[in-house]
Amino acid sequence: MRMMGIESSCDDCAVALLEDGREILSHVVYSQVLTHRPYGGVVPELASRDHLNKIIPVLEQAMQDARSSWDDLDGVAATCGPGLIGSLLVGLSAAKAISFALDIPFCGVNHLEGHLFAVFLEEPAPAFPFLGLIVSGGHTSLYHVNGFDQRTLLGQTRDDAAGEAFDKVAKLLGLGYPGGVEIDRTARQGNPEAFSFPRPLSAPETLDFSFSGLKTSVRNFLQQQGEAFVLEHLADVTASFQEAVVDSLLLKLNRAVLRTGTRRVVVCGGVACNSRLRARLRRMADEDGLEVFVPSPALCTDNASMIAAAGYRSLCAGQVSPLSLNAQANLLL
Ligand code: KG4
Ligand code: ZN
Repeated sequence: MRMMGIESSCDDCAVALLEDGREILSHVVYSQVLTHRPYGGVVPELASRDHLNKIIPVLEQAMQDARSSWDDLDGVAATCGPGLIGSLLVGLSAAKAISFALDIPFCGVNHLEGHLFAVFLEEPAPAFPFLGLIVSGGHTSLYHVNGFDQRTLLGQTRDDAAGEAFDKVAKLLGLGYPGGVEIDRTARQGNPEAFSFPRPLSAPETLDFSFSGLKTSVRNFLQQQGEAFVLEHLADVTASFQEAVVDSLLLKLNRAVLRTGTRRVVVCGGVACNSRLRARLRRMADEDGLEVFVPSPALCTDNASMIAAAGYRSLCAGQVSPLSLNAQANLLL
């Protein structure tokens, strides 16, 4: 069964083709980073216009890379939320048009479901149950996952998402956009213990996260120490900030392991590309004997293979979406 996936929830315009829900035949991602870089963040109106310009070329590229003809397609899936409404509508409308024109089933996919199960596109895939931590630009949520359709939300951010904190702090420090990647790169030369930034919400017995206070504390540090000092110690500042984020994430993850007794962990979403987070997770696996699964970077950041995979599972379960399905900016998982 050949499934097309389309992802356009934010600033990546992506199309992928998947064979039998596992084998990636093509995986095309057009990043809008150059469009948004002058503004230091994603501008929603520019994002939807850029999706509109790129969706057809990206579709054609994905078909060409997979050496596929339109007749080979058995279904088409697209992200229907959460995300930027104008951006979502472009990919969703394209998927509906393809479904209607080819008379093949269409399936709307929750972007977060895509992230959470992207790890199943690789070997080894985790068994159920596992703790699933989604860390992206828009979300920081921890789930106990019993099956593809069975999960319990254990905790989530009360303010900024982890990726948002990376991006906002990078902007404060005058690093380029996208911020997470820049902080990761700069921090490699730095000492993570050079400066002390808070680990918010670590004392109370909650599994929720909070990152806006951490961002404020970097801003205050910048004001107190002055720009020249911070520039001179940029690697140490970014490494120390990054360590505070990673500590906060792993503290809650470990707390959830203790609370649930589940020792299998999946970490996904764009921030799961972070080299320090990945290294600390590997250490947790080696030292604490946890089973840790983190997708390859190309499957952590926004992509359409994860959407095609989720669509495949839905269609196999007989869940077809109506062409009247609308995009939902705040869709919950
Ligand atoms: O999952 P994703 O591609 O899009 C959303 O669904 O939000 O995640 C994007 C987020 C951005 O905030 C970006 O700064 C962050 O992931 N990110 C990183 C790294 N690569 C991407 N954060 C820290 N370190 C990285 N290497
Ligand atoms: Zn995402």
